Order: sequence, then C-alpha cells, then structure tokens
Amino acid sequence: MQLVQRPRRNRRNAQIRALVRETRLGPEHLVLPMFVQEGSALRTPIATMPGQARLSIDLLVDTAREAFELGVPAVALFPALTEDLKDARGTESTNQAGLLPRSVRALKSALPELLVITDVALDPYSSDGHDGVVIDGRIDNDVTLPLLASMAVEQARAGADVVAPSDMMDGRVAAIRRALDEASFTDVLICSYCVKYASGFYGPFRDALESAPRSGDKKTYQMDPGNVRECLREVRLDEAEGADWLMVKPGLPYADVIRFVRENSVLPVAAYHVSGEYSMLKAAAERGFLDYERCLLESLLCLRRAGADMIFTYAAIDAARALAD
Ligand code: PBG
Repeated sequence: MQLVQRPRRNRRNAQIRALVRETRLGPEHLVLPMFVQEGSALRTPIATMPGQARLSIDLLVDTAREAFELGVPAVALFPALTEDLKDARGTESTNQAGLLPRSVRALKSALPELLVITDVALDPYSSDGHDGVVIDGRIDNDVTLPLLASMAVEQARAGADVVAPSDMMDGRVAAIRRALDEASFTDVLICSYCVKYASGFYGPFRDALESAPRSGDKKTYQMDPGNVRECLREVRLDEAEGADWLMVKPGLPYADVIRFVRENSVLPVAAYHVSGEYSMLKAAAERGFLDYERCLLESLLCLRRAGADMIFTYAAIDAARALAD
C-alpha cells in the first residue's frame, strides 16, 4: 500500500497521544456543587442523585476539604431549607444568621484559599419554588431585582468569593454589581448563569432541595431549548452589566451552545454538568450499562473541548480522584 497520509501514526502509543492531545482536563478546571442543611454529623442521601447528599455544615467542610486537597479550587453552595423558613419573597435569603451565610463562614475559616461560590436566586427560599417573586401567578422581574441584590450583598458579607445569579431575571447582573460595589465588595466576582435553558435535566436538583415550582414552570424566564442566536443577546447584556464569568447550563446536550458562547465572548466560560447529567451516568453504571469513571472523564473532557474553561460537576471529587490515578 502506498498511503501518503496515515493519521493513525499520531495515535500509535500513549506518549504520542499525550503530546498531540488538544484538550486537557484537570481538577483545576472543576467546581464542586454541594447541598447544605441544618444539623451536625448529618448526611441525608439524595435518592435521585446516587452518591450525593445534603450535608450538615461540619460534613460540608470535611467534603470541601477532600475536594480542595485533590486540587479542586472551588465549591458552589445550595442551601436546603425547611418549609417553615420559606415565604413568597424569600426573606430568609438575606438573614446573615441563616444556613447559607453560616456555611460560607465555616468554609472560609477552615479553608481560606478554597473559593466559595454562592447561588443567587429565590427558589431555595421561596414558598412558590420560583427564582423570582410570584405576583398574581406571574414572575415579577423588577420586584425581584432588589431582593437578589440584597441576597448577593449578604453572601459577600459572609465571605463568598463569587456570587452566581442563576435566576435569569433581566437586569440582575447590573443590579447585583451596583449593590456589591456600593457595599464596597468591589472584589467579589459575578458568575452569571447567562445562558440557562428551561431544562428537564434539573429534575434531581429540585428533589435535592425540594424546590420544584409549586405551580407553572420556569419557561417565562429560562431559555427555550430550541434557541441559540438568542444567547448573543444574553451574552452582550451580561458583559455590559459587569459579569466576570458566563455560564452555559445544562452542559453536554448544549455543547454547541458552549462553543457559540466561547466564540462570541472573551470572558471565561463555565459549563454546568447538571444533576440530570450526573444521575444518568450513575443510573446507567448501576445497571452495568457503562463504565462510570470512563464516561465521566470523557463527558467532562468533551465540555472542555466544547470551550468551557471550568465545569461545575457533582462528580468533581470522583473525577479528581480518577485523574490522580
Ligand atoms: C435554581 C437552580 C437550578 C439549578 C441551579 N440553580 C434549578 C432550576 O433552575 O430549577 C440546577 C442545577 C442542577 O440541575 O444540577 N436557581
């Protein structure tokens, strides 16, 4: 055979493959999302997310330490509140003595170098289970903005390094930036959930927090899965309003969107490998249909290849361990 081109030469052995690999995945690219609850030494497994649990603050710190020692630089926190603390305006979200601010303080005092990212949205605090305030059955954008801004300021006061608005209200990045700066938190970053779709893949997350909408759905604020041009509008607004990072969510089913955002902004891009993506891998592995570790690392590498600088994933510890082997 007189073949001139033999692409297989570049795949001949592990050393050559390592030299020519275009995309890398390391623990430094990962963010571990965690669910926190009241109590001590309390670990409540989440049925729809095998291997994940709601943790009391002491166990939260232990788990975060494990991740940090494996090279994961950041965690993202979601508080699981009891029903009695929820109301229509998410009042508990600005309580400095509340679960979330106490969690942030505990993490920052035990692990000062660990980056703590907090979620800005009403849903964990809302008796309606929506990210904004519900008035006459509609999500009121402008009534919600000052509540989000105050929530972000309280999170920063507790020590959050990055606040991450996941609510999809219009104008929230500007409102949050202004409020942070007025309170002298000019160094606190904003990771905007810029392009967040109305997705069925969030199902297990809503079980974890018991935060599913009590009525209606989130389609009037989260994006339509059929759209990609619309991202440009969200990207331009978030850049102009002062976002530091842009997030695309969910991850793998939206790899084309990650690429599109990557090519249309110079800001760092985060991808969220969401609860449903995690649970699909776990469920298939439990049934012996696929190899969890291998498919996990491949999924995360593909998100990096699509253009994500960082990846939020519940499997950050599993991945970091596998990468260390
Ligand atoms: C809500 C929020 C959601 C997630 C992160 N923040 C769910 C939702 O919008 O209903 C989803 C994360 C996941 O599924 O892993 N503000």
